[in-house]
Amino acid sequence: MTAGGQVHRVQGPLVEAAGLPEVAVSSLVRLGARRVLGEIVGTREGVVTVEAYEYTGGLRPGDPVAVLGVPLSARLGPGLLGGVFDGLLRPLSDAPAWLEAGTVPDRLPPERRAFVPGVREGEVVGAGAELGVLRGAGVVHRVLVPPTAEGRVEALRGEGPCGDDDVVAVVGGVDVPLTTSWPVRRPRPVRERLAAGPPMITGQRVVDLLFPVARGGSACVPGGFGTGKTVLLQQLAKWCDADVIVYVGCGERGNEMADVLQEFAALSDPRTGGRLLDRTVVIANTSNMPVTARESAVASALTVAEYYRDMGLHVVVIADSTSRWAEALREFSSRTGDLPAEEGYPASLSSALAALYERAARVVTMGGREGSVTLVGAVSPPGGDLTEPVTTLTQRFVRATWSLDRDLAYARHYPAVSWGASYSRDVDLVAAWYADAGDPGWAARRAAVAGLLAEADRLAALAELLGVTSLPGHERMVLLAGRLLREGLLQQSALSERDAASSPARSAALTGMMLDVVTACQDLVARGVPATTIEEADFSPVLRAREDAGADDLGEIERRRRAVLGMLRSLGEAT
Ligand SMILES: Nc1ncnc2c1ncn2[C@@H]1O[C@H](COP(=O)(O)OP(=O)(O)OP(=O)(O)O)[C@@H](O)[C@H]1O
Ligand SMILES: [Mg+2]
Repeated sequence: MTAGGQVHRVQGPLVEAAGLPEVAVSSLVRLGARRVLGEIVGTREGVVTVEAYEYTGGLRPGDPVAVLGVPLSARLGPGLLGGVFDGLLRPLSDAPAWLEAGTVPDRLPPERRAFVPGVREGEVVGAGAELGVLRGAGVVHRVLVPPTAEGRVEALRGEGPCGDDDVVAVVGGVDVPLTTSWPVRRPRPVRERLAAGPPMITGQRVVDLLFPVARGGSACVPGGFGTGKTVLLQQLAKWCDADVIVYVGCGERGNEMADVLQEFAALSDPRTGGRLLDRTVVIANTSNMPVTARESAVASALTVAEYYRDMGLHVVVIADSTSRWAEALREFSSRTGDLPAEEGYPASLSSALAALYERAARVVTMGGREGSVTLVGAVSPPGGDLTEPVTTLTQRFVRATWSLDRDLAYARHYPAVSWGASYSRDVDLVAAWYADAGDPGWAARRAAVAGLLAEADRLAALAELLGVTSLPGHERMVLLAGRLLREGLLQQSALSERDAASSPARSAALTGMMLDVVTACQDLVARGVPATTIEEADFSPVLRAREDAGADDLGEIERRRRAVLGMLRSLGEAT
């Protein structure tokens, strides 16, 4: 359906149109001869307010307005994986300026994908039921009955190559093409939301050991300028154990997106032997692209994630940065004359953030499979002020906060995740999951590490006032423990070949090693060995284990544990 009207007023991305018949809010429109895409955000007394997603330069009063009558929707199909898209999920195949020619590698050729039917004609299927699978799609790509269809399978495609727009089946009188469409602002329906259970393993020790995020949970990474938000998110994207990764560059630098693409294309995927890029969707709305499309970039990303979740996959959405997303809301609402609330953000910021993070969930899908969408977003508070509205409101809605500390970053302690200011609401559920999964010691190790770190911070403040030597021996051992844990366990260089990602077994071995060494030191002071003697001992074998031991070489960690424990024992015997 199209109906015509005229542009009435243009004010940046805000366009007013008149002369339109009855139109629905959130319907798409095309503006002027260039057919600039926009979305209706309000109607009042015959005047329709449109938010334009593209540059409105040249648009004038009197220019034609065509109403498309459909909401902003994402095209969902196998062409997503390995692709790079703009905020409206249009392929960025003609590489924008910030992507040098040749940096976007070829995607999986569609002719290598084959549909394999999994039902028979005549069967009755419900929404979300599996019609078949698509081979060669990078992941286990289930072709599903759309959420809005159900009924008898009246026709079904045979086994063989299947193009993006080919019809796979006719269900209840409705054609089901391989590529379907879904409105980005409407969460795809699920049968049931599940409580948190298994963690998403990120490969970053400070996260996995201290502040885990559950699958289907959400986390934010607040941090001032240059504290390592982007590097941490990129590490997550590269190493986390999600099946599909949706990476959204939202208002950040374009060259960082180019880096992401290049690195992903170079990384081989331990699961498939292919490239990591082949199970990644990159959505780029960088700082040089239209601000209004930022908001839809995040909604598009979540829709893509829900599409793969419905196939029974675990998906992570990584957004850098949600502050730029919130700024887009602010910029637009200031133009519509909304009454601003705190720091100029609209009063609706809180509900917009809530709606965003609510789309993260572990669910039983319509088709009865378990799937999840985990959402991780960077927050970049201006001036590093963590009391500003986006940071404080976000923390209300996420399950975990990994707060980056400027002092740690200056000291080149990376990742600069503050153990004092970070938290995870999923610790207990994750601990129960580890216990079930054969690691009942996880909770105790976490408690021991967190306790020592907090106590070491408290004592360090005291030692600064009074001098270390005025502290009793066992407290000096806590200070030593703090140093060992910070340097030998929490620090993890993104650039390290062996340590960039740490498997749960490796993290557990390194933690166990450090805690055993700390216990041995405490025993020595208790037996009268001078604290100074212990402090001056050579701990470098355990401190360097994270860098020296191969990614899977738990034996080396064990050897170093024994060597240092032996060294401490001989210290005890010598005194
Ligand atoms: N885990 C890490 N390992 C090694 N180096 C790191 C790590 N994290 C951060 N760095 C260093 O810190 C620099 C800044 O990090 P990054 O660009 O991620 O900060 P940011 O918080 O995203 O900054 P901005 O506020 O500008 O977006 C990196 O270029 C890198 O040198
Ligand atoms: Mg950054």
